[in-house]
Parts: sequence; structure tokens; C-alpha cells
Amino acid sequence: MTSDAVALWNHEAPTFDEAPDHGLLDPAVRAAWRDLLLGALPAPPLRVADLGCGTGTLALLLAEQGYAVEALDFSPAMVWVARAKLATASEPVQRLVTVREGDAADPGLAPASVDVVLCRHVLWALPDAVAVVRRWVAALRPGGRLVLAEGDWSTGAGLTARRCAEIVEESCARVEVRHLTDRQLWGRDITDERYLVVAHA
Ligand SMILES: C[S@@+](CC[C@H](N)C(=O)[O-])C[C@H]1O[C@@H](n2cnc3c(N)ncnc32)[C@H](O)[C@@H]1O
Repeated sequence: MTSDAVALWNHEAPTFDEAPDHGLLDPAVRAAWRDLLLGALPAPPLRVADLGCGTGTLALLLAEQGYAVEALDFSPAMVWVARAKLATASEPVQRLVTVREGDAADPGLAPASVDVVLCRHVLWALPDAVAVVRRWVAALRPGGRLVLAEGDWSTGAGLTARRCAEIVEESCARVEVRHLTDRQLWGRDITDERYLVVAHA
């Protein structure tokens, strides 16, 4: 990770939640992500690592459903916003979430320590993605799941679904790609490729 990248995300943090799919402030968009994730994750209670958690939106969403979430991000400003948001959540949700500064590429998770590794819109930016995913999969308990939301965005950034699946197939035998074309997830129509990769350890 570079200090430039951290500075960039620090700069994004105060306004990050304004995009419909980031803050999930629109109840319909929030419900769409909740249903998508509940359909991809095994049922709670389980332990989830949310890597590159940003403002903690997905971590809180999952804690509301009964998952225990260890969230981390390398941007101190993102971590600050995530913790501030967590402080406004109900007591049971607060108890289920921890947020810390850390490197998603090497999160320091103990082997076989979590049931789910969740990562949305981060893998595309990490160097040596194959090695990173191998580390993440090593942190999964038997029967655990890797859940990645990624895209090949119209901005020119991102990762094709095909390439993302290839990366994950280096570590996992069962890899499923679901294309995310439902406008409810984004709060608008989209024309680029957005998808969920669900892989079994
Ligand atoms: C596009 S945002 C996604 C945030 C969150 N996953 C979400 O979907 O709302 C990318 C996030 O990844 C974080 N990030 C990027 N590279 C990282 C790394 N190597 N380690 C930890 N966090 C990282 C950024 O700070 C930023 O918060």
C-alpha cells in the first residue's frame, strides 16, 4: 500500500457515503444489498472479515442481521467515519462490530479463524491479487466463503468478472459469478460490468 493511496481514500471519506451504493442511505438500495448478501453468505451467527471496509456500511448491515464483523481499512479517515457510524448503532450491533486500521492485502487474520471474507470494491486495486486471495482463503474456516463484489467500471478502473474468477480459482475449487444488473443495487441504471464472486474454501 502507498501513502498516496491512503491519502486519496482519506480525502474521499467525508463524502463517500453520498453515492447510493456506498452509504446505502436509500432504504430500497439498502434492502437490495441486504438481500444480495444474505443470499450469498451462510446464515448467522458467523464471523465475517470485511476487508477495506470504508465507512463500515456493509459491516453494520451484516451486524444488524446477527453477524460478528471484524472490519478493517488502511485509511484512518475511513476508519474514523466507520467508528462514528458504529457509535450511533444500537448496543447489540455495536457489540458485534470491530473496526481497525490495517492492510486488506495482508490483514493478519489467523488461519481458519473466520467464516466469511467479504471485500467490496477493493481487490481490483491490490497488487498481486492471486497472493492476496490465497491469504484470505487461508483465513477461512472449513466450509467458509469468500464473497467479493467487484466491477469493470465505466471509469476504466476495475477487474473483469472473468479475470476476478480466474484469480479466485487459484485458491478455491467452487467459484460462482453473479452479475449485478439490478438497478436497485446502484440507485440508477448501469451499463458496465458489476458482479459478485462467491467462492467456497
Ligand atoms: C471503493 S472503497 C469501498 C469501501 C467498502 N468496501 C464499501 O464497499 O463500501 C475502497 C476502500 O478500500 C480501502 N482500501 C484500499 N486499499 C486498501 C488496503 N490495501 N488495505 C485496506 N484498505 C484498503 C480504501 O481506504 C477504501 O475505504
